[in-house]
Amino acid sequence: MGDTKKTYYITTPIYYPSAKLHIGHTYCTSVADTIARFKRLAGYDVRFLTGSDEHGQKIQRAAEAQGITPLEYTTNIVNGFKALWEKMHISNDDFIRTTDERHEKVVQALFTKAYEKGDIYKAEYEGWYCTPDETFWTEQKLGPNHTCPDCGRPVERVKEESYFFKLGKYTDQWLKFIEENPDFIQPESRRNEMIQFVKQGLEDLAVSRTSFDWGIKVPFDPKHVVYVWFDALVNYISALSPFDGDGELYKKYWPADLHLVGKEIVRFHTIIWPMMLMSLELPLPKKVFGHGWMIVDGTKMSKSLGNVIDPIPLIDTYGADSLRYYLLSEITLGNDGNFTLPNFVTKINADLSNDLGNLLNRTIAMIEKYHGGVITKCDDMDDLDRDVSTLAVQTAKDFEAAMENMELNKAIKSVWAFIGRMNKYIDETMPWVLAKSEDAHDKARLQSAMYHLAEALRIIAILVSPVIPVGAPKIWDQLGLTGFGSATIEDAKVWGLIPTGTK
Ligand code: MSP
Repeated sequence: MGDTKKTYYITTPIYYPSAKLHIGHTYCTSVADTIARFKRLAGYDVRFLTGSDEHGQKIQRAAEAQGITPLEYTTNIVNGFKALWEKMHISNDDFIRTTDERHEKVVQALFTKAYEKGDIYKAEYEGWYCTPDETFWTEQKLGPNHTCPDCGRPVERVKEESYFFKLGKYTDQWLKFIEENPDFIQPESRRNEMIQFVKQGLEDLAVSRTSFDWGIKVPFDPKHVVYVWFDALVNYISALSPFDGDGELYKKYWPADLHLVGKEIVRFHTIIWPMMLMSLELPLPKKVFGHGWMIVDGTKMSKSLGNVIDPIPLIDTYGADSLRYYLLSEITLGNDGNFTLPNFVTKINADLSNDLGNLLNRTIAMIEKYHGGVITKCDDMDDLDRDVSTLAVQTAKDFEAAMENMELNKAIKSVWAFIGRMNKYIDETMPWVLAKSEDAHDKARLQSAMYHLAEALRIIAILVSPVIPVGAPKIWDQLGLTGFGSATIEDAKVWGLIPTGTK
């Protein structure tokens, strides 16, 4: 039987191994992971890619400063990336390094293809370069005192022979594409920014360097290395091994459904990358979403300010679920988000320990105490029951709709509103009073209350699983349920699936 599942290919940016990753990077990967997990829950065949962007002058200089080779330098740091993602329970299917041979050969093939087509030509580059951002700038775009207009750091004068890519050639095709695909760039504010940028006129882009050698060699002119962004963007395709065998992965997953990136690199992903693909006559990704930045106590994180937050101690102290929950629920995707430790601690205590933790613990304790741990299936008995069973199904639908819309915090909010409702349901049904009654009707109501609580938790566990993947299956375990791994979003939209007699 053929594989008929719909595919969903989602990527994070590949991170520079120039330093350890901080909570800003952790935020981006956690958002992607949550979307990937949600899509799996929704029945998609998901491919989730992350990786490392290892070439370029900045890395070469950092390695030299430590007296090791660039590859030794990046390997150390990349091992740290992988350890962090494991600790955060990131469910990536692959990890691409731009130093992988599988990547290098695809970059070389695509560079050659664009060259043979006449879209890449050799000339002299003279202008400015922001090494930390690996970005070329013309004089008129610079900030005051020759600084990078993006990051504000000083730029360097560059004069060297370069290959150039004819970006400008694809202006009309790009504008037409954007008009026909209004959802391609998200959020909309970024889309308008990019249209303005392109309409101002694009210069050809320098796509090779000769003043250092830590990069992928231009195959037909090896004193040149491929410009790090031309190299890096190709990762989304090279990871699918398009030229291996019959290119099965590539055929299955390309074009990507979503490139999730930070707002400052939207330009590379929505202008340069699509124009490269137009030149190469390859399909364009379906969507690029530019998320906002994590700031700390209201300030941008920077080494010089010493306010860079390392996620590892936070995970060690509070757990991966806590950090994930905070990052995903506090920030509206697309906006900047502010991290403060007191706010983090308050929020996870209130929402995870109190609201969710108490609902679970109270429910389990009562089922144990009143019915010896056995759940008996009951249909709605009264208005309260009807209220919560209807709300459960509605919550699952709202959650799904918000997730499909990339409104992660709204999706989470809807589940916590339901959790709040269920805590209130306990107070309203007063099981401890029903338990003392000899009345048959009260006994039945108690049974019904326990069933409604357990069912609610079954549904909650499914819905929160993309956000808190460590805790969610534990809820099922505590309820005595099995098969959490194969539960789907559809199972959350149906009330009454816990079989009677579940212990
Ligand atoms: N290597 C390039 C990406 C190449 S993708 C083909 C790069 N690397 S980076 O390590 O500098 O940044 C990677 C991602 O981390 C970017 O999307 C960036 O927006 C994100 N973040 C870096 N600092 C951030 C915050 N403070 N907050 C949120 N995301 C941030 O750019």
